[in-house]
Amino acid sequence: MPKTISLISCDDIAAGSTAEIVADGRIFAVYNVDGTFHVLDGICPHAGGPLGKGMLNGQIVTCPWHGWQFDVTDGKHCLNDTLCQPHYDVDIHEGRVCVSLPD
Ligand code: FES
Repeated sequence: MPKTISLISCDDIAAGSTAEIVADGRIFAVYNVDGTFHVLDGICPHAGGPLGKGMLNGQIVTCPWHGWQFDVTDGKHCLNDTLCQPHYDVDIHEGRVCVSLPD
């Protein structure tokens, strides 16, 4: 049965901003794209940079360490379509951004 993890209050992440959240032993990157929330695995696959601390431009996040860019809506790398950062389905529950993880 999937496990639901509450990450952050919707009120704490303004449109156009990002957040790095540690929960359930993982690091999540949370993005607010014009009021729609998206969540990726927060560890950049290049060298472990913090994708939750990257700059968000529209739906593209830029890793702060070396500039790799990902579409936060599906996790796809912007230049290399063989790379896809794990992304999570988002539910909004009682005003909080939540994700479901398989057991
Ligand atoms: S660690 Fe993210 S681009 Fe290098």
